[in-house]
Amino acid sequence: MFEQIADKLKDAKKIVFVTGAGISQESGIPTFRGTDGLWRKYDPMKLATIDAFYDDPKLVWEWYEDRRKNILAAKPNPGHQAIAELEKYKDVVVLTQNIDGLHQRAGSTKVLELHGSIIRIKCTVCDFKGDFKSSFDELPPKCKCGNILRPDVVWFGESLPQDVWQEAIIQANSCDMMIIAGTSLVVSPANTLPIYARQNNAILIEVNPEETVMSQDMQLSLKSTSAIALPELISIFQK
Ligand code: APR
Repeated sequence: MFEQIADKLKDAKKIVFVTGAGISQESGIPTFRGTDGLWRKYDPMKLATIDAFYDDPKLVWEWYEDRRKNILAAKPNPGHQAIAELEKYKDVVVLTQNIDGLHQRAGSTKVLELHGSIIRIKCTVCDFKGDFKSSFDELPPKCKCGNILRPDVVWFGESLPQDVWQEAIIQANSCDMMIIAGTSLVVSPANTLPIYARQNNAILIEVNPEETVMSQDMQLSLKSTSAIALPELISIFQK
């Protein structure tokens, strides 16, 4: 699959990955917009917005608790593992829209979580933040300050954590190769990262079984799943 750009892969100094729900699909975590996608079953405007949360915090918490249980039971797949393995050969940074923590659990050490993490929680009022891997006795859970806690994720209509976003732009602007895997590239501003990379003359590679809005802009658009294509990418360095 990667033969035609094997030399460019080997010459690349820094490889930045932009990943989305598709890379976790083979770990059993549904995507958002695919045929089995979450947004086909649920209305995102009722579950993944700040207004929805304040309208019915218990419902939103029940949905996230359900997702979190699945995510904690899921395992990184060969796609996540290949990206982690690539760190043996290259400077690798992962800019992920996923909140499942599977890149880190696969061993990737430089991961920017653009949309937060389902495993982290924060207070809606004070500056408390913490990891949470077990369940709560009551939903919505309360902070020590008495206010309700929320998942530390970015909802529609909210801005990304500015420090994370600024760092992501720096990474996209300073790579010589960007591999976009498992994302429909329909949600901004994450979908602008390939544009930053292209402005820096980076080689753009897409790994997605479906066509996306940016497939035509890629030097290589692989119609494959990430669990198949990314281990093939690593095999180039193992020859
Ligand atoms: N390997 C690679 N790509 C896959 C696979 C797979 N096994 N299975 C599905 N895909 C592709 C789909 O073709 C689709 O293009 O993954 C993409 C998933 O797209 P979305 O469901 O839109 O997910 P994503 O791009 O991550 O959504 C971005 O939208 O709902 C918000 O905050 C949420 O972070 C999410 C953001």
